[in-house]
Amino acid sequence: ISVDQLPGPHGVPILGNLLDLNNPHPIDTLMDWARQYGPIYKLTVPGTTRIVVSGADLMPDICDDERFDKQLGPGLVAARGTGTPGLFLSETSDPLWRRAHNILMAPFSQSSMRGYLPRMVDIAGQLMDKWSRLNPDDEVNVPADMTALTLDTIALCGFGYRFNSLYRDTPHPFVAAMVRNLLEAQKEAKELPLQRKLRVQARRQAREDSEFQINLVKGLIEDRRRQGDAADNTDLLGRMLTGVDKSSGEGLPDDNIIAQCMTFLVAGHETTSGLLSFAINYLMKSPQYIDQARVQIDEVLGDTAEPTYEQVHQLTFVRQILDESLRLWPTAPMFTRAARTDTVIGGKYLAPKDVGISVLLPMLHRDPSVWGPDAEDFNPHHFDPERFAAVPPLAYRPFGTGLRACIGRQFALQEATLVLGMLLQRFDIIDHRNYQLHTRATLTVKPEDMWIRLRPREGFA
Ligand code: HEM
Repeated sequence: ISVDQLPGPHGVPILGNLLDLNNPHPIDTLMDWARQYGPIYKLTVPGTTRIVVSGADLMPDICDDERFDKQLGPGLVAARGTGTPGLFLSETSDPLWRRAHNILMAPFSQSSMRGYLPRMVDIAGQLMDKWSRLNPDDEVNVPADMTALTLDTIALCGFGYRFNSLYRDTPHPFVAAMVRNLLEAQKEAKELPLQRKLRVQARRQAREDSEFQINLVKGLIEDRRRQGDAADNTDLLGRMLTGVDKSSGEGLPDDNIIAQCMTFLVAGHETTSGLLSFAINYLMKSPQYIDQARVQIDEVLGDTAEPTYEQVHQLTFVRQILDESLRLWPTAPMFTRAARTDTVIGGKYLAPKDVGISVLLPMLHRDPSVWGPDAEDFNPHHFDPERFAAVPPLAYRPFGTGLRACIGRQFALQEATLVLGMLLQRFDIIDHRNYQLHTRATLTVKPEDMWIRLRPREGFA
């Protein structure tokens, strides 16, 4: 079956399906089409055709690194700009991607996570303190507080810097510059080069914002060098400054280290904050799972204020809640691959070289043939070990796949387990607005306009 023969939504001349996707909920639109056209369909966007896949049986082919590679769409290539890219925006064939990947695998491995825990507890403790000082009627903007937490956590564990977002009403200038740059990159992806040329002020601001961020990280690198042997190089920045790629014998140039720091901030904060926000949404709609989680939390954490590494990793049911949230709403909802040479997937569909195949994770993860008749329902018991063992490994891919899978997976899961564990240990969640989940997709997808109240649990006032 050729790409032309695949089903798919009708588009308009030149723009194809672009107009249908140009709304705040493009992922919902893609999911509706998957429900209508099935586990493999085609889309046309200006200049190209793309395949969208959500069938678990097609995954073994698409995830085969020998035959397929990550594809960076035009939007991501544009976001790369002219400088050296970080891991996320690099081509697999770029020797610097491999060098950085080799150097960074160890500091992102499970065995390195123990070292980051005290810094994660530091920031999580700040959020708990903030919440414990609220008046009973105060409202908490969940995605906003979670974003402050995840940004501060990655900055502290990444390069020993404190944004102190939880103590501010307006973002730290670095964060403001980063957010402006991200919005600008998104705007740019949707406009013609001439339109952008005309926005002189926006271009100047974008340049100033990038320089400001680069200079801050440069300053941190210079500080480390000045401190010499006395520097604490146990964070990601230190590991990059001192690390050598065993296969090439080379370290990373400074501009690449700076690009990696920016990448961790961008890739690491919205995804994890969205995960925590979705998990809270699902829990307040299914309080029986709060009760189940608390049996374990009370046993493992008791009234401890600073959980240890061992304690966090004993919170297996909290982890199942997070896994289940990432099943229904994987916060990085798509990744795109392309065949290295013409090939066939699922035994019958042609996958021509370089044609983008996007894996639509929220639909892949709701396949009833894999998860059972309650595939659309939030049920952390989908991840009970004996039940999850029957799920084919490639049917659940919230962190991507193969060589280009998420390097921050253990980091995100440790941080989110700690924070959700501490939240449920100390607070009752009050759904005073009877929140109805609706999402917004920017770079990632997260709940929108989500407010709760928190009350200290008995014994934690
Ligand atoms: C890549 C998801 C947290 C850093 C990816 C990819 C996914 C993903 C799906 C693959 C993208 C692709 O194939 O194009 C997530 C989710 C997270 C999370 C759902 C949280 C719940 C983090 C954190 C960090 C991070 C905390 C860093 C501290 C990266 C990097 C890459 C990546 C650097 C690119 C790796 C490479 O291509 O070599 N992530 N991520 N992520 N993620 Fe994450």
